Amino acid sequence: MDFYSGLFSVGSLKVLLFSVISYFVYVYLLKPALHYIYIVIHYHGFHYQPKSFLLGHVKQIWPNFPFPIEMKTVAGNLYEKMLKIVGPNPSRSLSVLWISIFPVVFASGHEVVEKILHRTNLKRPHFCKFLGLGDGLISSEPDVWKVRRKLIEPFFTTKKMRDHAKHMYEEVKSFGQQLDKEVGKPVDLVHQIHTSTLNIILKTSASIPLEDSIEDKERYVELVSTVERNAVKRAANPLYQLDWMFKLFQFSQVYYKAISSTVEIINKMFRRRKQLLKDSSSNEPENQDLVGLLEGKVDEQGLLDELITLIGAGHDTTAVALRWNLFNIGNHYDVQEKLYKEIIQFFPDDTPIDDMDKLKECVYLEQVIKESLRLNPSVPGTTRVLEEDIMLNDERLIKGSMVNVSSLATHYDPNVYPNPTKYDPDRWSPENASKIPKTAWIPFGYGPRICIGYRYAMVELKIYTAQIIRKFSLRSTRPHGSVSMLYEVTFQPSLPLEIIMTPRNNNQSNF
Ligand code: HEM
Repeated sequence: MDFYSGLFSVGSLKVLLFSVISYFVYVYLLKPALHYIYIVIHYHGFHYQPKSFLLGHVKQIWPNFPFPIEMKTVAGNLYEKMLKIVGPNPSRSLSVLWISIFPVVFASGHEVVEKILHRTNLKRPHFCKFLGLGDGLISSEPDVWKVRRKLIEPFFTTKKMRDHAKHMYEEVKSFGQQLDKEVGKPVDLVHQIHTSTLNIILKTSASIPLEDSIEDKERYVELVSTVERNAVKRAANPLYQLDWMFKLFQFSQVYYKAISSTVEIINKMFRRRKQLLKDSSSNEPENQDLVGLLEGKVDEQGLLDELITLIGAGHDTTAVALRWNLFNIGNHYDVQEKLYKEIIQFFPDDTPIDDMDKLKECVYLEQVIKESLRLNPSVPGTTRVLEEDIMLNDERLIKGSMVNVSSLATHYDPNVYPNPTKYDPDRWSPENASKIPKTAWIPFGYGPRICIGYRYAMVELKIYTAQIIRKFSLRSTRPHGSVSMLYEVTFQPSLPLEIIMTPRNNNQSNF
């Protein structure tokens, strides 16, 4: 009796409570805070551009910080800053960008890619959540990600890709017809391309017919661009990092509204799919699309998150890549002619461009796309939070730090790509390509979290490019190298990527 009353006495309960509270304060507050201070001190020993003590590089990116600024300016400044930080100077393959007191390590070069993007570094940084994609593949934590990635992979098997290619060509054919209205004048096909790639991903992932819900699709394209711009604005502002603090600013309302509107539209598409399925006599969509693949295996919220992610990631990146690709081709007539000859050899006249085997044989087409993705990768790079310490170039990168692998700096490394700013698809000819290390070309990232839609995107880019080049000859209105890139979620051109299309007659070249 005495023993138990002693055990539950007020004094011992106080000690117990104190120990529990101390434990939680240590584990959840003190330990992370100390580790963070360690990170900050550690990276002060690294190379970085001149910065201010408290704001780091923020003022250089956002000159009138904390007052409102046009996002185009922030994105342009970020690009300039990044060029200085990770410019193709081998001694700067490691450098730090300071968002106030938060260090982001920038790394580049094919040797470092493998070390950072390998199997144990699976964690993406907190700012991936700013894209409003919920717990979808892009932003999910490693535990959820591992399960979901396995579930989604079957959407990209070779057999599935053959079906996807048929839908892609169906859309690309009608897209090509729309272009007839644009011939002979300078156009940046931004709107047409983004809505068209959206048609494809909605058809393949949620069985939404290509011609369906046009208004919603157009609104969605605009919203995605707003969300992306707002996400960069949030990531660049140290005051906007923590949710509770961010909500104190009026901008957060605009930001959250844009995100909830995109979710609303995808939800509507989700319901539309159900309705279409109910109205149709066959169960075909259930067997074919991403929703059918995931239904019953993840809860409804998870399914929606994955759908939002795949649709967001699957149309915008490809659209930007296609616009740069057409612009680059339009600046290089010799390349265009060689490409045209290859295309009509495999796909003469109106032959459907949906045969995966024949597409594989179009080696020059692949070279052209790879070179364009090298010079103008759709995405500035990829970031991981290190899950263990690693040594790079005799420097220690510590667990918990954010490391960005720059696609641009890696792609412009003169040791791998002589005369790196030159557009030269022959770098990718079979004999030359074998000399390029596999981690020197990373438009789709690398390692276990490499873009899941890599093959899908390449097939889509091939079908669009082949159809457009088969129908038109292209001439860009601005010279190669005259358009720089804005550092947004995807690299947007700083000026319109205008081309002039001229219909080809009787399969003859117009040059
Ligand atoms: C030219 C087109 C595309 C480019 C340049 C691109 C680029 C990328 C990059 C750089 C990553 C990050 C990889 C990493 O962290 O290592 C990524 C991830 C991802 N991409 Fe793509 N992508 C493209 C098209 C697509 C398409 C068509 C889809 C879907 C149909 C897609 C879905 C995704 C998803 C879901 C992730 C997250 C993967 C994961 O964390 O497991 N992407 N993409």
